[in-house]
Amino acid sequence: MRFLVTGTAGFIGFHVARELLKLGHTVTGIDGMTPYYDVRLKHRRHQALAQMPGFEPHELLIEDYGSLETIWRNVAPDMVIHLAAQAGVRYSVESPASYIDANLRGTFSILELARHFPIKHLLLASTSSAYGMDEDVPFNENAGANHPCTLYAATKKSAELMGHSYSHLFGIPTTAFRFFTVYGPWGRPDMALFKFVANILNDVPIDVYNHGNMRRDFTYIDDLVEGIIRLTAIIPPLAGNARLQSASVENDSLSPNAAYRLVNVGNSAPVSLLEFIDEIERALGRKAQRNYLDMQPGDVPQTYADTRLLKALTGFQPSTPVAQGVRHFVDWYRELYRAGL
Ligand SMILES: NC(=O)c1ccc[n+]([C@@H]2O[C@H](COP(=O)([O-])OP(=O)(O)OC[C@H]3O[C@@H](n4cnc5c(N)ncnc54)[C@H](O)[C@@H]3O)[C@@H](O)[C@H]2O)c1
Repeated sequence: MRFLVTGTAGFIGFHVARELLKLGHTVTGIDGMTPYYDVRLKHRRHQALAQMPGFEPHELLIEDYGSLETIWRNVAPDMVIHLAAQAGVRYSVESPASYIDANLRGTFSILELARHFPIKHLLLASTSSAYGMDEDVPFNENAGANHPCTLYAATKKSAELMGHSYSHLFGIPTTAFRFFTVYGPWGRPDMALFKFVANILNDVPIDVYNHGNMRRDFTYIDDLVEGIIRLTAIIPPLAGNARLQSASVENDSLSPNAAYRLVNVGNSAPVSLLEFIDEIERALGRKAQRNYLDMQPGDVPQTYADTRLLKALTGFQPSTPVAQGVRHFVDWYRELYRAGL
């Protein structure tokens, strides 16, 4: 199958593309190599993918509709997995414009192209941040999620809604994922695990927000990729068949008037930030100097995925324990990243 994947130089896009290539698919990878974090790491991910047969990389911003259209026309993808985004909860306070460009304008390009050059299935990445400070846990796809606490969350929720409207109007079968704190090898330098490991190894104190009083549904990258790949084959039915199909899956989020479904991909086993730091210390064999701070603006105290729908649709439930996932990250960090990539 021919896949077009956006954000392939990013953490999740890299892993998804690698797995698709291993399975024998072809992957056209789009990435703008934006300078939000170490661009060297992004280039290194693309170089690793380029070693595999079937990968064709393109460096461009997705809001550049004309260039993206040329590629899309030539490739004629069967499916598109849209992962490129301006990510990061805290950065959206500092640099809001980049979220509008990548997450709204960029997603608009993808939707317009899916409208004019039909595909079998469009898969869009959204986030657990859409649930904001909701206290009704575990977070369920059928909850409103109408109270985002950051512009990041607001743009991702908006992209979901844009996707729904295009699915309804133009019959684009669409699955939107909500990912929960993804971690693992080749991870993001702006995220807690990467920062904590780097600081502990360099004898620099780590910032522990809300005095450690936070819980996250940490999801190991291999589990996330497994969930995504399985969901590529679960194409939401067109509106006419929706009621029929939906009857067979309990708790389905399938839209009543579009071939559109929202699916949480998380571990469904939240871990406290302090336990997470303990695991990092164990994996490194070193203690962190902990700098306890108040909650940051836009941060939420907990995330917790209801994954019954993922399980019902795919038969798969993420389950990698944090201790194991953290060890894999630390091994990668020591062997490859610290050694100069
Ligand atoms: N990592 C997580 O914990 C997490 C959690 C929830 C949701 N997500 C979502 O998953 C997706 C992938 O996240 P990630 O962790 O791999 O982030 P990432 O920053 O590592 O990857 C995103 C990639 O998109 C590229 N990009 C950014 N803006 C672009 C643009 N305008 N045009 C083209 N390319 C652009 C970047 O260069 C980057 O390589 C994102 O949509 C993100 O919002 C991630």
